[in-house]
Parts: sequence; structure tokens; C-alpha cells
Amino acid sequence: MSKLPIKIGKSLEKRKSTGSLRELKFSEDLVDFSSNDYLGFAGDKGIFDRSSQILKENLLLKTGSGGSRLLTGNHRLFAPAEELIAAYHKAEAALIFNSGYDANVGFFSAVPGRGDYILYDELIHASIRDGIGLSAAKAIKFRHNDVGDLQEKIRRLKNGISGEMYIVTESVFSMDGDTPDLHLLAAFAEEHNFHLVIDEAHAVGVNKAGLIAEENLEEKIFARIVTFGKALGAHGAAVLGSTELRDYLINFSRSFIYSTALAPHAVAAIIAAYENLQGEGISEIEKLRENIRFFKAEVSKRGCQKQFLESNSAIHCCIIPGNTGVKAASQSLAAAGFDVRPILSPTVPIGRERLRICLHSFNSKTEIEELLTALKGLL
Ligand SMILES: Cc1ncc(COP(=O)(O)O)c(C=O)c1O
Repeated sequence: MSKLPIKIGKSLEKRKSTGSLRELKFSEDLVDFSSNDYLGFAGDKGIFDRSSQILKENLLLKTGSGGSRLLTGNHRLFAPAEELIAAYHKAEAALIFNSGYDANVGFFSAVPGRGDYILYDELIHASIRDGIGLSAAKAIKFRHNDVGDLQEKIRRLKNGISGEMYIVTESVFSMDGDTPDLHLLAAFAEEHNFHLVIDEAHAVGVNKAGLIAEENLEEKIFARIVTFGKALGAHGAAVLGSTELRDYLINFSRSFIYSTALAPHAVAAIIAAYENLQGEGISEIEKLRENIRFFKAEVSKRGCQKQFLESNSAIHCCIIPGNTGVKAASQSLAAAGFDVRPILSPTVPIGRERLRICLHSFNSKTEIEELLTALKGLL
């Protein structure tokens, strides 16, 4: 095997010496407070059986799609899946991508262009950042969830703006679990004719069709990104928007065009998950909401609120500064039977390292109590 270039070796060494080396681990048999499978759909037998039935009914007993959707990969499950997704989210159209990462990279590299501006929340997901990095538009970040700072940044630009303005945020932040003031953002974008783009990866399912739908803001949003690998327990993502936006992405979005389409079984799982979201899955949403309420009450009861970031979502973060400390805390919780992952710097800023606790519909109240008792002992 040929030797690693010196620069690469040094980067790895640095990760090791700062305690931030990422490693692949097998998920042990611990109580799940870590996965994004918020509603337990990934292991739901009903969804699995329904997916198999869809494949059989459509004579799609194949392991792969065979090509890009623009070539031979556009099998017959895509059209009904996209219609179902658009209808559920009250969008004019939906376009399925292979993942949320692909959807964000494909959208941001293709839609905002030279002369345009992208104003983005400083904590947006890496996939949006990577898409922005591929765009010729000028990108400026604003302080997390701070609409005042966003307005100030735009005010400073105002005379110089000739192109379009895109404002980008998430409805539930993946590493913080918090939510921006969506009404304020929507009103501001509407008033100035700016294009608001919202990533709903962690709101879909947890908040039924997402927070934009819950707040009746669908008409005011230029594009929504919904993903299927989290509460829907499947894989893939979709961009929701107008029919013209969909047509544009089919023509210009490179991660859509130059990649093999999702296999029939992946799309069948998406359809089955959306059906479940409107059927038996509703009770899972209620159980999850109850667990979120219970968790927050138990945190307060133990006097730990100060260590936690404010959140009404399924993601609750307990700040434990320093990579070493937060890793040790995660290991102690694992020894007590709980799977809670540490989020290290540089994924989050230095000093803001945290335990990211994901709540699920299937977590019992006893599990939540025991987890918080063990955590309180560590704090
Ligand atoms: C906010 C957000 N957007 C997009 C993605 C990427 O989605 P996917 O896992 O489907 O690639 C993630 C995944 O972590 C996310 O948290």
C-alpha cells in the first residue's frame, strides 16, 4: 500500500491529539437516545410489509434502479411518491433526491447564482454549507436565530444588491434542537421579495408535515427540504416548491442529474412511511410529543435546565464543554445502558461540546427518568 501524503497524516494526528478523531462504531444493544428514528418507523413491521406489497404489486422485484432518473432509473414508483409527498406537505410539487445531503448540495449549487446573495444562519447543516460553497452567489452568515442580525446584514448590503436574495435556515436545528421565529422570517422575506428556504429534516414526522405546515406558512416559502432518513425511518429527501422550481432542478441540479436514482425498495419504503404517518403512525407522534413534555419536566425537576439548550423538538442538548469531558460522559451513560452520543468540536464550536439526546416515541418514561438520573450524577 502506498504511503499517506504527509499533510493528510498530520490532519489525522491533530484529530487524535485533540480528542476529536471520528470513528465508526457498531451500535450496541443500548437504550436508543441517539438515532434520528424519532417515531420508530425504521423498524416498523407494518411499514416493511407494506413496502414489500408495493414492490410486488408494481412488479418491481429489483435491487437497483439501473441509472439516473434522466436515463433508465425513473421507475414507476417515483411519480406516485412525489404526488403523495407534495400533497401531504401542501406543496405544488416535490422532487426526490437520493439523500438530504444530495438535495441541499443540488439545490444550493444550482439555484442561487452569480450576482445573487445567500444569507444563512451560522449553524446551518454541513450539507447546506457545501451546496453554498459550490454556488457562485455571495454568501453571508447571520447570528443563530437572530432575525435582527439578518436584517442588519441585509441593510448594510442594500444599495449593492442587484440579484436575488435567498434566506436560509432550518425549522429545527440538528445540533441544537431549537427553532427560529418562522413567522417573522416569512413576513420579512415576503415584504422584500426575498426567497426563503427552510430545511425541515428534523421537523418532518415529529411535527407531522413539518413546522412550516403546522404554522400555515407553506405559501410564503420558496423551497422546503424534507428528508426521509429521520422520523420517516427510510432514506432519501425531497425539495418542495413550485412546478417550475422542480423543472429547473431536473435540468440544472447536478446531484440529481449525475447520480443513480433511488432503488424501487427505497421509494416503496418512503411511500409506506408517508401512508403510516397518516394512519397508525399518528399515535407514535402523540407518544413522542408526550415524551418531549415529560423529558422537559424531568429536567426541570432535577434543576438541570441551565445545562440544556432550549428546545421543544425531539433533540435535547446538554452542554458539557471539552471533547474529553463530553466523550467521558457519553461512555459513562453507555456503561449505564444508554446510547447518547457526544457532539464534539469542530462539529460544534469549542466550549459548546454537548451530549445530544434524541427522544423517541418508543422510549419509556422509566428509561427517561433513569437516563436523567444517571446524567445528573455526572453533571
Ligand atoms: C438539517 C439537516 N439537513 C440535511 C441533512 C442530510 O440528510 P440525509 O441524512 O438524508 O443526507 C441532515 C442530516 O443529518 C440534517 O440534519
